[in-house]
Parts: sequence; structure tokens; C-alpha cells
Amino acid sequence: MIYPIVAYGDPVLKKVAQDIEKGSLDVAKLSEDMFETMENAHGVGLAAPQVALNIRMFVIDTSVFDDENIASVRKAFINPVIEEEWGDEWPYEEGCLSIPGVRADVYRPSNLRIRYFDTDWKEHVEEFDGMTARVIQHEYDHIEGVLFVDHLSSIKKRLLKGKLSNISKGECDASYRMKFPVKK
Ligand code: NI
Repeated sequence: MIYPIVAYGDPVLKKVAQDIEKGSLDVAKLSEDMFETMENAHGVGLAAPQVALNIRMFVIDTSVFDDENIASVRKAFINPVIEEEWGDEWPYEEGCLSIPGVRADVYRPSNLRIRYFDTDWKEHVEEFDGMTARVIQHEYDHIEGVLFVDHLSSIKKRLLKGKLSNISKGECDASYRMKFPVKK
């Protein structure tokens, strides 16, 4: 099932999401639906708040980068905790399915260690670097109520203000179905 993707301006994107209680929902089915929603939108990651669910879960698929230097990782992360980040901060021009048409450089540390559950509720602790770490950091931000534009300087944010407010009103181009917080 393909969910509509929540657009910038919806309060669900600004909330700190809640841990999922084991057995309270079918995480395997939800993960399938989130992958389908992400792939339909040609994304590399999707967090539950982006499909209007205030829960701590995201999916990533870095095989989409189609670059042999990028390890391809396709995983669902449930109740993840980034335990540590290290390494030099490096810039990358990020985008977000909730903010179509906007891209900007964001600096993030190169390495991280994350603890999470998979869809069988098996716990893992793994380290990631490079683009995979980058995508995890972006999606992890989502479940903390943080968007990539929140990392920008106030001057850059001011420059984007009009564009962001247009997105929340549905004045943007996306090839996938979206849910806009401000109805005209
Ligand atoms: Ni995003």
C-alpha cells in the first residue's frame, strides 16, 4: 500500500516520535508499505512521520545511488538509537520527500553506531559510514522532529521561507501523492 507523503508544515514532522511497543502493530507489513511508498517516490529513505505515523521507525535503500563505491543497504530500523557519531563533518546536498524541489548542503559526521530492532524484533548494533550513515542521520532526524532545513543557517532558511510555505499549501511539483497541511 502506498501512503501519501506528508508535506512540510504538517505538525507530525515536528514531533519527537514514540517508541513502538512490540506486538502493538504489524511492523513487517508497515515496513513493506513504507518501502513501497519510498520506491514509488524514488526516495532513498522514508521515516514513519512522513506517512503521518508518530512512531520511531524508518526505512532506507541506498542501492538507489547506483554507485559501486556506496555499499547498498536496504533495511528497516525500528526503535533505533544512534549511540555515537564520530568522524569529520562533511557536506552533502540533501533533499527530502516531504520538501520537494528544495535541496541544500548539510554537514554531518561521517560515522555512526546505531542500535535498532529489525521487523522480526531482533536487536542489532551496527556501524555505518559514508552515504549510508548520511541517510540514516537524515531519517533519524525525522523521528526526532528535525528536518534537514533545520540544519541550515538562518539566512539560508530565510531565503527558503517562501518556497517552504508554498510547499505546505501544495504549490510544488512532486511525482507522488502528498498530503498538505494547509488547505486552500
Ligand atoms: Ni526527509
